[in-house]
Amino acid sequence: MRRLAFAILLSVTSLSAPVVASASSVITAERYLDVATGKYVDHPAIFVGDDGRITGVSDARLVKWGSNIRHIDLAGQTLLPGLIDMHVHLTSLAEIGGYRGLQYTDNFWTAVGVANAKKTLDAGFTTVRNVGSANFDDVALKQAIDGKWVEGPRIVPAAYAIGATGGHCDDNSLPPSLDKKGPSVVDSPADARAKVRWLHKYGAEVIKICATGGVFSLGDSVGGQQLSLEEMKAIADEAHMLHMKVAAHAHGDEGIHDAILAGIDTIEHASLASDATIQLAKLHKTWFDMDIYNDDYILATGTSNGTEQESLDKEKMIGLKQRQTFQRAVRAGVPMLFGTDAGIYPHGQNGRQFAKMVEWGMTPLQAIRAATSSAAEALGQTADVGAIAVGHFGDMVAITGDPLQNVRLLEAPAAVVKGGKLVERSTPQ
Ligand code: ARG
Repeated sequence: MRRLAFAILLSVTSLSAPVVASASSVITAERYLDVATGKYVDHPAIFVGDDGRITGVSDARLVKWGSNIRHIDLAGQTLLPGLIDMHVHLTSLAEIGGYRGLQYTDNFWTAVGVANAKKTLDAGFTTVRNVGSANFDDVALKQAIDGKWVEGPRIVPAAYAIGATGGHCDDNSLPPSLDKKGPSVVDSPADARAKVRWLHKYGAEVIKICATGGVFSLGDSVGGQQLSLEEMKAIADEAHMLHMKVAAHAHGDEGIHDAILAGIDTIEHASLASDATIQLAKLHKTWFDMDIYNDDYILATGTSNGTEQESLDKEKMIGLKQRQTFQRAVRAGVPMLFGTDAGIYPHGQNGRQFAKMVEWGMTPLQAIRAATSSAAEALGQTADVGAIAVGHFGDMVAITGDPLQNVRLLEAPAAVVKGGKLVERSTPQ
Protein backbone atom coordinates (compact mmCIF):
# COMPACT_ATOMS: atom_id res chain seq x y z
CA MET A 1 0.00 0.00 0.00
CA ARG A 2 2.74 2.44 1.00
CA ARG A 3 4.65 1.46 -2.07
CA LEU A 4 1.62 2.24 -4.22
CA ALA A 5 1.12 5.60 -2.53
CA PHE A 6 4.79 6.38 -3.11
CA ALA A 7 4.51 5.41 -6.76
CA ILE A 8 1.47 7.64 -7.21
CA LEU A 9 3.19 10.53 -5.46
CA LEU A 10 6.20 10.05 -7.68
CA SER A 11 4.21 10.05 -10.88
CA VAL A 12 2.23 13.11 -9.80
CA THR A 13 5.29 15.12 -8.85
CA SER A 14 7.09 14.14 -12.02
CA LEU A 15 4.06 15.30 -13.98
CA SER A 16 3.74 18.62 -12.22
CA ALA A 17 7.31 19.49 -11.34
CA PRO A 18 8.82 20.98 -14.49
CA VAL A 19 5.90 22.95 -15.81
CA VAL A 20 5.38 26.10 -13.82
CA ALA A 21 8.57 28.00 -14.50
CA SER A 22 8.22 28.73 -18.20
CA ALA A 23 4.45 29.31 -18.31
CA SER A 24 2.67 32.62 -18.80
CA SER A 25 -0.85 31.25 -18.41
CA VAL A 26 -2.62 28.29 -16.90
CA ILE A 27 -6.03 26.95 -17.91
CA THR A 28 -8.01 24.88 -15.43
CA ALA A 29 -11.26 23.01 -16.02
CA GLU A 30 -13.22 20.03 -14.79
CA ARG A 31 -11.63 17.69 -17.32
CA TYR A 32 -10.16 17.43 -20.78
CA LEU A 33 -10.59 14.86 -23.52
CA ASP A 34 -7.47 12.95 -24.49
CA VAL A 35 -8.57 12.36 -28.08
CA ALA A 36 -5.96 9.62 -28.61
CA THR A 37 -7.39 7.37 -25.88
CA GLY A 38 -10.93 8.75 -25.93
CA LYS A 39 -10.75 9.12 -22.13
CA TYR A 40 -11.36 12.12 -19.94
CA VAL A 41 -8.60 13.36 -17.65
CA ASP A 42 -9.92 15.13 -14.56
CA HIS A 43 -8.85 18.43 -12.98
CA PRO A 44 -6.25 19.51 -15.51
CA ALA A 45 -4.02 22.53 -15.11
CA ILE A 46 -2.66 23.26 -18.57
CA PHE A 47 0.34 25.58 -18.61
CA VAL A 48 1.08 27.62 -21.70
CA GLY A 49 4.28 29.53 -22.42
CA ASP A 50 4.90 32.93 -24.04
CA ASP A 51 5.15 31.30 -27.43
CA GLY A 52 1.56 30.01 -27.08
CA ARG A 53 2.63 26.39 -26.66
CA ILE A 54 1.74 24.02 -23.84
CA THR A 55 4.62 23.60 -21.41
CA GLY A 56 2.97 21.14 -19.05
CA VAL A 57 -0.24 19.40 -18.05
CA SER A 58 -0.69 18.75 -14.32
CA ASP A 59 -3.33 17.82 -11.82
CA ALA A 60 -4.75 21.17 -10.69
CA ARG A 61 -5.25 19.85 -7.14
CA LEU A 62 -1.57 19.10 -6.72
CA VAL A 63 0.18 21.98 -8.37
CA LYS A 64 0.62 25.64 -7.43
CA TRP A 65 1.47 28.62 -9.55
CA GLY A 66 2.52 32.17 -8.86
CA SER A 67 0.40 35.30 -9.27
CA ASN A 68 2.52 36.25 -12.28
CA ILE A 69 0.77 33.49 -14.25
CA ARG A 70 -2.56 34.41 -15.86
CA HIS A 71 -5.24 31.98 -14.69
CA ILE A 72 -8.08 31.09 -17.06
CA ASP A 73 -10.58 29.38 -14.81
CA LEU A 74 -13.01 27.22 -16.79
CA ALA A 75 -14.58 25.53 -13.77
CA GLY A 76 -17.11 22.84 -14.59
CA GLN A 77 -16.13 22.76 -18.28
CA THR A 78 -14.91 19.94 -20.50
CA LEU A 79 -11.91 20.87 -22.67
CA LEU A 80 -11.21 19.55 -26.14
CA PRO A 81 -8.34 20.45 -28.45
CA GLY A 82 -9.14 23.44 -30.64
CA LEU A 83 -11.22 22.21 -33.58
CA ILE A 84 -9.86 21.99 -37.12
CA ASP A 85 -11.95 22.49 -40.25
CA MET A 86 -10.11 21.04 -43.24
CA HIS A 87 -12.28 22.67 -45.91
CA VAL A 88 -13.28 26.31 -45.64
CA HIS A 89 -13.43 29.34 -47.91
CA LEU A 90 -13.03 32.25 -45.51
CA THR A 91 -13.28 34.76 -48.33
CA SER A 92 -16.60 33.48 -49.69
CA LEU A 93 -20.04 34.34 -48.41
CA ALA A 94 -23.05 32.02 -48.26
CA GLU A 95 -25.25 35.07 -48.72
CA ILE A 96 -23.86 35.83 -52.17
CA GLY A 97 -24.13 33.12 -54.81
CA GLY A 98 -24.14 32.76 -58.60
CA TYR A 99 -23.66 35.94 -60.65
CA ARG A 100 -24.23 38.24 -57.66
CA GLY A 101 -20.56 38.01 -56.80
CA LEU A 102 -19.72 40.04 -59.91
CA GLN A 103 -21.17 43.17 -58.28
CA TYR A 104 -18.31 43.37 -55.77
CA THR A 105 -14.78 44.65 -56.18
CA ASP A 106 -11.88 42.23 -55.84
CA ASN A 107 -10.76 43.26 -52.36
CA PHE A 108 -14.30 43.05 -50.99
CA TRP A 109 -13.70 39.36 -50.40
CA THR A 110 -10.62 39.92 -48.26
CA ALA A 111 -12.54 42.49 -46.22
CA VAL A 112 -15.39 40.12 -45.42
CA GLY A 113 -12.81 37.38 -44.84
CA VAL A 114 -11.64 39.30 -41.76
CA ALA A 115 -15.11 39.01 -40.21
CA ASN A 116 -15.46 35.39 -41.33
CA ALA A 117 -12.14 34.47 -39.70
CA LYS A 118 -13.33 35.91 -36.40
CA LYS A 119 -16.66 34.06 -36.60
CA THR A 120 -14.82 30.81 -37.28
CA LEU A 121 -12.51 31.27 -34.30
CA ASP A 122 -15.42 32.25 -32.05
CA ALA A 123 -17.08 28.95 -33.01
CA GLY A 124 -14.11 26.99 -31.62
CA PHE A 125 -12.21 26.37 -34.86
CA THR A 126 -8.67 27.40 -34.01
CA THR A 127 -7.14 25.99 -37.23
CA VAL A 128 -8.56 25.90 -40.76
CA ARG A 129 -7.35 24.78 -44.14
CA ASN A 130 -8.53 27.35 -46.67
CA VAL A 131 -8.84 25.41 -49.91
CA GLY A 132 -9.38 27.98 -52.60
CA SER A 133 -9.61 31.73 -52.78
CA ALA A 134 -8.64 34.48 -55.21
CA ASN A 135 -5.91 37.12 -55.08
CA PHE A 136 -3.90 35.27 -52.40
CA ASP A 137 -6.43 36.73 -49.96
CA ASP A 138 -6.11 33.73 -47.62
CA VAL A 139 -2.36 34.33 -47.47
CA ALA A 140 -3.11 37.96 -46.61
CA LEU A 141 -5.53 36.90 -43.86
CA LYS A 142 -3.00 34.47 -42.46
CA GLN A 143 -0.32 37.15 -42.35
CA ALA A 144 -2.71 39.58 -40.63
CA ILE A 145 -3.76 36.96 -38.06
CA ASP A 146 -0.24 35.69 -37.36
CA GLY A 147 0.91 39.30 -36.92
CA LYS A 148 -2.01 39.89 -34.52
CA TRP A 149 -3.60 42.72 -36.51
CA VAL A 150 -6.69 40.60 -36.99
CA GLU A 151 -8.22 37.83 -34.89
CA GLY A 152 -8.86 34.46 -36.43
CA PRO A 153 -7.83 30.83 -36.62
CA ARG A 154 -4.45 29.52 -37.72
CA ILE A 155 -4.75 29.25 -41.51
CA VAL A 156 -3.20 26.76 -43.91
CA PRO A 157 -3.79 28.62 -47.20
CA ALA A 158 -4.08 27.09 -50.66
CA ALA A 159 -4.63 30.40 -52.47
CA TYR A 160 -5.91 29.68 -56.01
CA ALA A 161 -7.21 26.19 -56.76
CA ILE A 162 -5.64 24.56 -59.82
CA GLY A 163 -8.04 23.28 -62.49
CA ALA A 164 -8.62 22.73 -66.19
CA THR A 165 -9.94 25.24 -68.73
CA GLY A 166 -13.71 25.37 -68.33
CA GLY A 167 -13.51 23.25 -65.19
CA HIS A 168 -14.77 23.74 -61.65
CA CYS A 169 -11.88 26.05 -60.75
CA ASP A 170 -11.99 28.19 -63.89
CA ASP A 171 -14.22 31.23 -64.18
CA ASN A 172 -17.14 30.12 -66.35
CA SER A 173 -19.53 32.99 -65.83
CA LEU A 174 -18.60 35.10 -68.86
CA PRO A 175 -19.27 34.80 -72.60
CA PRO A 176 -16.38 34.04 -75.02
CA SER A 177 -16.12 37.71 -76.06
CA LEU A 178 -15.07 38.45 -72.46
CA ASP A 179 -12.84 35.37 -72.27
CA LYS A 180 -10.86 35.42 -69.05
CA LYS A 181 -8.57 32.59 -68.11
CA GLY A 182 -8.54 31.88 -64.39
CA PRO A 183 -5.02 32.49 -62.98
CA SER A 184 -4.52 28.87 -61.99
CA VAL A 185 -5.91 27.14 -65.06
CA VAL A 186 -3.64 24.39 -66.42
CA ASP A 187 -3.94 22.22 -69.51
CA SER A 188 -0.94 19.90 -69.34
CA PRO A 189 1.31 18.21 -66.77
CA ALA A 190 4.00 20.82 -67.44
CA ASP A 191 1.52 23.67 -66.83
CA ALA A 192 0.42 21.95 -63.66
CA ARG A 193 3.95 21.69 -62.28
CA ALA A 194 4.65 25.32 -63.04
CA LYS A 195 1.44 26.37 -61.28
CA VAL A 196 2.38 24.50 -58.10
CA ARG A 197 5.71 26.35 -58.10
CA TRP A 198 3.98 29.69 -58.63
CA LEU A 199 1.52 29.10 -55.78
CA HIS A 200 4.31 27.96 -53.49
CA LYS A 201 6.32 31.07 -54.37
CA TYR A 202 3.54 33.37 -53.20
CA GLY A 203 2.59 31.69 -49.95
CA ALA A 204 0.37 28.66 -50.59
CA GLU A 205 1.03 25.98 -47.95
CA VAL A 206 -1.24 23.33 -49.43
CA ILE A 207 -2.27 22.74 -53.04
CA LYS A 208 -5.94 22.49 -53.98
CA ILE A 209 -6.97 21.03 -57.31
CA CYS A 210 -10.27 20.45 -59.04
CA ALA A 211 -10.24 16.88 -60.30
CA THR A 212 -13.91 16.79 -61.36
CA GLY A 213 -16.84 19.06 -62.03
CA GLY A 214 -18.79 20.68 -59.24
CA VAL A 215 -22.10 21.94 -57.97
CA PHE A 216 -21.42 25.67 -58.05
CA SER A 217 -19.40 25.77 -61.27
CA LEU A 218 -21.55 26.51 -64.29
CA GLY A 219 -21.71 24.45 -67.46
CA ASP A 220 -19.89 21.35 -66.25
CA SER A 221 -21.05 17.91 -65.20
CA VAL A 222 -20.72 17.46 -61.45
CA GLY A 223 -19.19 14.01 -61.74
CA GLY A 224 -17.11 14.45 -64.91
CA GLN A 225 -13.35 14.17 -64.57
CA GLN A 226 -11.45 17.38 -65.46
CA LEU A 227 -7.78 16.73 -64.70
CA SER A 228 -6.01 13.72 -66.18
CA LEU A 229 -4.11 11.18 -64.14
CA GLU A 230 -0.85 12.57 -65.61
CA GLU A 231 -1.73 16.13 -64.63
CA MET A 232 -2.61 15.09 -61.10
CA LYS A 233 0.58 13.03 -60.80
CA ALA A 234 2.65 16.01 -61.87
CA ILE A 235 0.92 18.17 -59.24
CA ALA A 236 1.29 15.61 -56.45
CA ASP A 237 4.97 14.96 -57.22
CA GLU A 238 5.81 18.64 -57.42
CA ALA A 239 3.89 19.53 -54.26
CA HIS A 240 5.36 16.66 -52.28
CA MET A 241 8.84 17.65 -53.40
CA LEU A 242 8.11 21.07 -51.90
CA HIS A 243 6.76 19.43 -48.72
CA MET A 244 3.21 20.44 -49.44
CA LYS A 245 0.12 18.26 -49.39
CA VAL A 246 -2.56 18.20 -52.07
CA ALA A 247 -6.34 18.35 -51.65
CA ALA A 248 -8.48 17.31 -54.62
CA HIS A 249 -12.04 18.47 -55.13
CA ALA A 250 -13.64 15.32 -56.60
CA HIS A 251 -17.28 14.28 -56.76
CA GLY A 252 -17.17 11.69 -59.57
CA ASP A 253 -15.88 8.16 -59.13
CA GLU A 254 -13.31 8.17 -61.97
CA GLY A 255 -11.80 11.45 -60.78
CA ILE A 256 -11.58 10.20 -57.19
CA HIS A 257 -10.00 6.97 -58.40
CA ASP A 258 -7.33 8.74 -60.47
CA ALA A 259 -6.65 11.28 -57.71
CA ILE A 260 -5.90 8.43 -55.31
CA LEU A 261 -3.62 6.74 -57.85
CA ALA A 262 -1.85 10.04 -58.49
CA GLY A 263 -0.92 10.26 -54.81
CA ILE A 264 -3.27 13.08 -53.78
CA ASP A 265 -3.46 13.35 -49.98
CA THR A 266 -7.09 14.29 -49.32
CA ILE A 267 -10.22 13.83 -51.43
CA GLU A 268 -12.71 16.63 -50.92
CA HIS A 269 -16.46 15.83 -51.26
CA ALA A 270 -15.87 12.23 -52.50
CA SER A 271 -19.60 12.15 -53.24
CA LEU A 272 -19.92 9.35 -55.79
CA ALA A 273 -17.07 7.03 -54.75
CA SER A 274 -17.83 3.41 -55.59
CA ASP A 275 -17.05 0.55 -53.22
CA ALA A 276 -13.98 -0.33 -55.28
CA THR A 277 -12.71 3.26 -55.02
CA ILE A 278 -13.43 3.26 -51.29
CA GLN A 279 -11.22 0.17 -50.98
CA LEU A 280 -8.53 1.90 -53.03
CA ALA A 281 -8.64 4.91 -50.67
CA LYS A 282 -8.28 2.58 -47.72
CA LEU A 283 -5.34 0.82 -49.33
CA HIS A 284 -3.54 4.07 -50.16
CA LYS A 285 -4.53 5.65 -46.82
CA THR A 286 -6.02 8.56 -48.72
CA TRP A 287 -8.18 10.78 -46.53
CA PHE A 288 -11.80 11.50 -47.38
CA ASP A 289 -12.90 14.98 -46.36
CA MET A 290 -16.65 15.01 -46.90
CA ASP A 291 -18.81 18.11 -46.46
CA ILE A 292 -22.01 16.34 -45.55
CA TYR A 293 -23.83 19.12 -43.70
CA ASN A 294 -24.15 21.83 -46.34
CA ASP A 295 -26.74 20.05 -48.52
CA ASP A 296 -29.38 21.06 -45.93
CA TYR A 297 -28.40 24.71 -46.20
CA ILE A 298 -28.07 24.76 -50.00
CA LEU A 299 -31.50 23.22 -50.59
CA ALA A 300 -33.22 25.33 -47.92
CA THR A 301 -31.75 28.56 -49.33
CA GLY A 302 -32.55 27.72 -52.95
CA THR A 303 -32.03 30.57 -55.40
CA SER A 304 -32.62 33.32 -52.81
CA ASN A 305 -28.89 34.07 -52.50
CA GLY A 306 -28.38 34.18 -56.27
CA THR A 307 -27.48 30.50 -56.69
CA GLU A 308 -28.31 29.31 -60.21
CA GLN A 309 -30.98 26.67 -60.72
CA GLU A 310 -28.33 24.57 -62.50
CA SER A 311 -26.38 24.33 -59.24
CA LEU A 312 -29.45 23.38 -57.25
CA ASP A 313 -30.24 20.63 -59.74
CA LYS A 314 -26.72 19.27 -59.36
CA GLU A 315 -26.99 19.46 -55.56
CA LYS A 316 -30.17 17.41 -55.70
CA MET A 317 -28.31 14.80 -57.73
CA ILE A 318 -25.43 14.33 -55.30
CA GLY A 319 -26.56 15.47 -51.81
CA LEU A 320 -28.09 12.25 -50.53
CA LYS A 321 -25.65 10.05 -52.46
CA GLN A 322 -22.75 11.83 -50.78
CA ARG A 323 -24.12 11.03 -47.33
CA GLN A 324 -24.61 7.39 -48.29
CA THR A 325 -21.04 7.28 -49.60
CA PHE A 326 -19.88 8.77 -46.31
CA GLN A 327 -21.62 5.97 -44.45
CA ARG A 328 -20.02 3.31 -46.66
CA ALA A 329 -16.58 4.92 -46.34
CA VAL A 330 -16.83 5.08 -42.54
CA ARG A 331 -17.90 1.44 -42.40
CA ALA A 332 -15.08 0.39 -44.73
CA GLY A 333 -12.51 2.18 -42.56
CA VAL A 334 -11.36 4.95 -44.91
CA PRO A 335 -9.46 7.58 -42.88
CA MET A 336 -11.89 10.47 -42.47
CA LEU A 337 -11.52 14.21 -41.89
CA PHE A 338 -13.81 17.01 -40.80
CA GLY A 339 -14.29 19.56 -43.59
CA THR A 340 -17.42 21.63 -44.09
CA ASP A 341 -17.01 23.91 -47.13
CA ALA A 342 -18.02 26.86 -44.90
CA GLY A 343 -18.54 29.82 -47.18
CA ILE A 344 -21.18 27.80 -48.99
CA TYR A 345 -23.08 28.01 -45.72
CA PRO A 346 -22.51 30.71 -43.07
CA HIS A 347 -19.13 30.90 -41.36
CA GLY A 348 -19.28 30.07 -37.67
CA GLN A 349 -21.79 27.27 -38.14
CA ASN A 350 -19.01 24.77 -38.86
CA GLY A 351 -19.82 22.72 -35.75
CA ARG A 352 -23.19 21.73 -37.15
CA GLN A 353 -21.53 19.06 -39.26
CA PHE A 354 -20.64 16.92 -36.21
CA ALA A 355 -24.24 15.81 -35.73
CA LYS A 356 -24.52 14.87 -39.42
CA MET A 357 -21.38 12.76 -39.19
CA VAL A 358 -22.85 10.89 -36.22
CA GLU A 359 -26.23 10.55 -37.94
CA TRP A 360 -24.45 8.94 -40.91
CA GLY A 361 -22.44 6.38 -39.02
CA MET A 362 -19.64 7.82 -36.90
CA THR A 363 -19.37 7.68 -33.15
CA PRO A 364 -19.00 11.11 -31.52
CA LEU A 365 -15.36 10.25 -30.76
CA GLN A 366 -14.70 9.41 -34.42
CA ALA A 367 -16.22 12.73 -35.48
CA ILE A 368 -14.14 14.60 -32.88
CA ARG A 369 -10.96 12.84 -34.03
CA ALA A 370 -11.77 13.81 -37.63
CA ALA A 371 -11.66 17.45 -36.47
CA THR A 372 -8.62 17.14 -34.18
CA SER A 373 -5.98 14.37 -34.24
CA SER A 374 -6.77 13.12 -37.76
CA ALA A 375 -6.91 16.64 -39.16
CA ALA A 376 -3.53 17.37 -37.58
CA GLU A 377 -2.13 14.24 -39.21
CA ALA A 378 -3.51 15.16 -42.63
CA LEU A 379 -2.00 18.65 -42.27
CA GLY A 380 1.35 17.18 -41.26
CA GLN A 381 1.08 19.15 -38.00
CA THR A 382 0.82 16.47 -35.33
CA ALA A 383 3.39 18.27 -33.18
CA ASP A 384 1.41 21.52 -33.26
CA VAL A 385 -2.36 21.08 -33.24
CA GLY A 386 -5.07 18.49 -32.65
CA ALA A 387 -4.21 17.50 -29.07
CA ILE A 388 -3.92 18.99 -25.61
CA ALA A 389 -0.33 17.92 -25.00
CA VAL A 390 3.06 19.36 -24.18
CA GLY A 391 4.60 21.14 -27.16
CA HIS A 392 1.29 21.71 -28.93
CA PHE A 393 -0.30 25.12 -29.25
CA GLY A 394 -2.50 25.98 -26.29
CA ASP A 395 -5.62 25.84 -28.48
CA MET A 396 -8.79 24.46 -26.90
CA VAL A 397 -12.53 24.73 -26.64
CA ALA A 398 -14.59 24.48 -23.47
CA ILE A 399 -17.84 22.56 -23.65
CA THR A 400 -20.56 22.51 -21.00
CA GLY A 401 -21.51 18.84 -20.72
CA ASP A 402 -20.36 15.65 -22.38
CA PRO A 403 -19.74 15.88 -26.14
CA LEU A 404 -19.19 12.11 -26.28
CA GLN A 405 -22.85 11.77 -25.28
CA ASN A 406 -24.17 14.74 -27.23
CA VAL A 407 -21.97 15.87 -30.09
CA ARG A 408 -24.27 18.84 -30.78
CA LEU A 409 -22.71 20.56 -27.77
CA LEU A 410 -19.79 21.31 -30.11
CA GLU A 411 -22.02 23.71 -32.04
CA ALA A 412 -21.69 26.33 -29.31
CA PRO A 413 -18.58 26.10 -27.11
CA ALA A 414 -18.71 27.96 -23.79
CA ALA A 415 -15.20 29.37 -24.34
CA VAL A 416 -12.37 29.28 -26.85
CA VAL A 417 -8.66 29.50 -26.05
CA LYS A 418 -6.02 30.11 -28.71
CA GLY A 419 -2.32 30.04 -27.90
CA GLY A 420 -3.11 30.08 -24.17
CA LYS A 421 -5.27 33.22 -24.41
CA LEU A 422 -9.01 33.40 -23.91
CA VAL A 423 -10.70 34.54 -27.12
CA GLU A 424 -12.96 37.52 -26.50
CA ARG A 425 -15.91 36.60 -28.61
CA SER A 426 -17.96 39.02 -30.61
CA THR A 427 -20.12 36.47 -32.38
CA PRO A 428 -23.21 35.41 -30.41
CA GLN A 429 -23.05 31.69 -29.59
N1 ARG B 1 -17.86 23.34 -53.58
C1 ARG B 1 -18.67 22.20 -53.85
C2 ARG B 1 -19.10 22.20 -55.30
O1 ARG B 1 -19.41 23.24 -55.81
C3 ARG B 1 -19.86 22.18 -52.95
C4 ARG B 1 -20.64 20.95 -52.93
C5 ARG B 1 -21.71 21.07 -51.88
N2 ARG B 1 -22.61 19.99 -51.87
C6 ARG B 1 -22.46 18.88 -51.21
N3 ARG B 1 -23.40 18.00 -51.23
N4 ARG B 1 -21.39 18.63 -50.53
O2 ARG B 1 -19.12 21.18 -55.91
